Amino acid sequence: MSYSKIYHQSIQHPTLFWQQQADALPWFKPPTQVVDTSQVPTGRWFADGEMNTCYMALDYHVANGRGDQVAIYYDSPVTNSKSNLTYAQLLQQVSVFAGALRDQGVKQGDRVVIYMPMVMEAAIAMLACARLGAVHSVVFGGFAAAELAVRIDDAKPAAIISASCGIEVAKVIAYKPLLDEALDLAQHKVNSVVVLQRPQLQANLQLGRDHDWQALMVTATAIEAVPVKATDPLYILYTSGTTGKPKGIVRDNGGHAVALNYTMQAVYNMGPGDVFWAASDVGWVVGHSYIVYGPLLAGCTSVLYEGKPVMTPDAGAFWRVIEDYKVKAIFSAPTAFRAIKKEDPQGDLLEHYDLSSLDAVFMAGERLDPPTYEWAKAIIGRPVVDHWWQTETGWSICANPTGIEHLPCKPGSSTVPMVGYDLRVLSDEGEPLPANTKGNIVLKLPLPPGCLVGIWGDEARLHDSYLKDFAGYYSSGDGGYCDDDGYVFVMGRSDDVINIAGHRLSTGEMEEVVGGHEMVAECAVVGVQDALKGQVPMALVILKSGVFSSDAALHKELAAKLRKIIGPIAVLKSTHIVQRLPKTRSGKILRKIIRNIANGEDYIVPSTIDDPASLEQIETLVRPGSFS
Ligand code: COA
Ligand code: AMP
Repeated sequence: MSYSKIYHQSIQHPTLFWQQQADALPWFKPPTQVVDTSQVPTGRWFADGEMNTCYMALDYHVANGRGDQVAIYYDSPVTNSKSNLTYAQLLQQVSVFAGALRDQGVKQGDRVVIYMPMVMEAAIAMLACARLGAVHSVVFGGFAAAELAVRIDDAKPAAIISASCGIEVAKVIAYKPLLDEALDLAQHKVNSVVVLQRPQLQANLQLGRDHDWQALMVTATAIEAVPVKATDPLYILYTSGTTGKPKGIVRDNGGHAVALNYTMQAVYNMGPGDVFWAASDVGWVVGHSYIVYGPLLAGCTSVLYEGKPVMTPDAGAFWRVIEDYKVKAIFSAPTAFRAIKKEDPQGDLLEHYDLSSLDAVFMAGERLDPPTYEWAKAIIGRPVVDHWWQTETGWSICANPTGIEHLPCKPGSSTVPMVGYDLRVLSDEGEPLPANTKGNIVLKLPLPPGCLVGIWGDEARLHDSYLKDFAGYYSSGDGGYCDDDGYVFVMGRSDDVINIAGHRLSTGEMEEVVGGHEMVAECAVVGVQDALKGQVPMALVILKSGVFSSDAALHKELAAKLRKIIGPIAVLKSTHIVQRLPKTRSGKILRKIIRNIANGEDYIVPSTIDDPASLEQIETLVRPGSFS
């Protein structure tokens, strides 16, 4: 059946469509109710179904003859090690670790924070929580102690799982001191910390509170999967919004399993036994959906890679992994391919590897810019698919549905709305816009299964952040347009969220950190274009009166402060001391105009501007090619 036919079925008869997809999974109690919007406008799916995500991802496959198939390949060039676990072995490890967590007092509904590098145990920990019906909240390892503390206070976990260290190319990053600092900073007290001791660094364990992963595994016994309601939360994943407080996106069990299982086939054209590699991190939504849950639910083999696209050891790293594990589809961020392109522009390293297993390359995390698209397509010689999604949706809103019908790609477009998403482009006033006209990309409610069902601990924030601007629609925060063929072009955020090397961060949060510096009276942080990382933050600062500094000296301090408070991924590109910031008469900083200037773009000076002369200094300082 064509994409167009399936898409229209899913929009016109969502109940029937998703019921059929749900039937593909092994429920303990199959759902009879499909979607309910009475309490959650984004939709509660399969409310009376009972299941367990870990059971669906592991036990079911082992019971059905997949026990000896590799479930996860672990490949770590940074530790020079490789290993794998079959479905049967992974089930065994997960069941015992779930038992260990239960011994630590973790029970159904409790939260468990996971702060780990890219090791097999990170996936085991996530699946063990799912097995217990506990709610995991993975925090990306590149976040600093203060960010971790905020998440601990919000999620209020019963336990935390971490590791002694992560390895960033050749640097050993001690995780435990960061965790200890976060636990000191947090108000919420955690009774149990489980630490995976890695050979590269032994962490100090605090008697009574901290436990060695391996020691717990020796005494624990395996437990069965706990039946949960489809609508019970599976995980919380924090993401950056426009304020300093991250949003805990809540994902439930049933809708998530149905949607991910469906997408493995419909989007990625993957069947049971195929090898899928999401070269991301378990700390991001891509890692949740497509390193751990999606491939396992679909009976595929997943690759968990602890390395970089370059430097581990070179720009041939991706091609080596594809060859070693016969990867059928790879999924990564455009920034990773730009890093490879920079090192090996002609793709010479490809000649050393056999990529015959590879069918397609998928990219997301930021817009796939046409030059990177053309380059990747030419050197890899495979279809390159841009697809657009967000932590909030958990799977692609727009994609080329390669498992249904491989549509022609258009550079710069993430192709068409995926099955289940009723996508519209609206003006700021909420009016539908014609083709080729840029506006706000919104999704008609309810959303398909697998999307966010709430913000943890803050019911009103779902409405305030996503639903209030356009009645009856979820506002994506992204702007863009549809062309005459219905192809969607996502052009960037309309809020203060930026993507640095595939890491989603809030410039509002950075402003809080910069504004907290003792010399700073006022500031604006905006995302500016960067050839490698997509976007990087730039700070404009007004100093307190009587205070003096050079741009360079202040920059050094602000960059260090951002690194300390948010994490090393918040890399500040430049700092400019200014006399005034452009503002409206009501005092709102005109960040968009600052962005336009820094990106060398044209702009219209709004009639509401308070002091047009404030733009002159910024033009001189930050417009590319201007003389400062
Ligand atoms: N734990 C600790 N530190 C981390 C980290 C982690 N998990 N991830 C990144 N960092 C650190 C890096 O070591 C670096 O520190 P440094 O300033 O001391 O060198 C800093 O954070 C910035 O890292 P990064 O943003 O990754 O930049 P980079 O220049 O080191 O590498 C790329 C650039 C493009 C190679 C790299 O960002 C990359 O592979 N990006 C792809 C990201 C991705 O896949 N995202 C998922 C989207 S699907
Ligand atoms: P995250 O929640 O970290 O996945 O980031 C989601 C945001 O990244 C989206 O709202 C977009 O701004 C951006 N994004 C992700 N994928 C794409 C894409 N394929 N095209 C354009 N923007 C993208």
